Amino acid sequence: MRKKITKAVFPVGGFGTRFLPATKSVPKEMLTLIDKPLIHYGVEEAIKSGMDKMILITGRGKGAVSDYFDHSYELESLLRFKHKEELIADSNRLSDNATFIYIRQRNPLGLGHAIMRAEPVIDEPFAVVLTDDVIDSEIPVLKQMADVYENYGGSVVAIMEVDKSQTSKYGVVEAESQDGKIYKINRLVEKPEPEKAPSNLAVVGRYILSDAIFKYLKQIRPGAGGEIQLTDAINLLAQDEPVYGLKFSGKRYDCGSKAGMLEATIAFAMKDDVLKRSIKKMCKNRF
Ligand code: G1P
Repeated sequence: MRKKITKAVFPVGGFGTRFLPATKSVPKEMLTLIDKPLIHYGVEEAIKSGMDKMILITGRGKGAVSDYFDHSYELESLLRFKHKEELIADSNRLSDNATFIYIRQRNPLGLGHAIMRAEPVIDEPFAVVLTDDVIDSEIPVLKQMADVYENYGGSVVAIMEVDKSQTSKYGVVEAESQDGKIYKINRLVEKPEPEKAPSNLAVVGRYILSDAIFKYLKQIRPGAGGEIQLTDAINLLAQDEPVYGLKFSGKRYDCGSKAGMLEATIAFAMKDDVLKRSIKKMCKNRF
């Protein structure tokens, strides 16, 4: 019987330069998709996948993220007075269903460096969620991955096919298909140019990692972009332990880019009757 995955690590120390000037004072994880910040979607996915310990690797200027998962007593008493308690229920529901652990990443030296900060509170396989990647799916992607981990063991990364011209934006895997959805990964390369990419199967921001990853994170040197890359450590891990890729079911939006955020906003709005009517009316009248 494998140990249940209960911990999810959220690196939230990055600057979010693609959303400047907004991210000058608002953490990119707090940018909203309709009415919830990006971090809400990631934490909700982890809770729905059975995890109850959220480890947030934060940095300077990220206070709004920890405040979000705290009770806001002034706001709550005001809303109670106005009989609008339901407005606060959503974010409290997340904080009431998980323990939040905050660790500071003093220097943002890359994704791998951020994950390494979680080592003192982890001694079992754990999940990693990159909140830029919002994934709309019937079964939460982390749950799909936890199921692969339960059946196969090892580590699991979410993968999807991308256009070969796009490989330099992603970690890319060299892998053998096991059953069309699950792949055994032999090698990973961070942000390769198309001619150097081992395939068009790209890593998406969801991982279930063996805690052996910390050993490899300590071994690697700065890689693509001069950063300590998680992909490089997973590549070493894959030489010693099984690492699987799961072609997940669901639609992924890159909410770290303006176009991706816009696409996600429209797609999520179209699932709400009132917003859908507004969008249809606007398109009919103005475009
Ligand atoms: C990170 C990872 C990359 C992965 C991507 C998915 O890159 O380093 O391997 O493919 O997330 O979104 P970033 O987008 O942070 O540059």
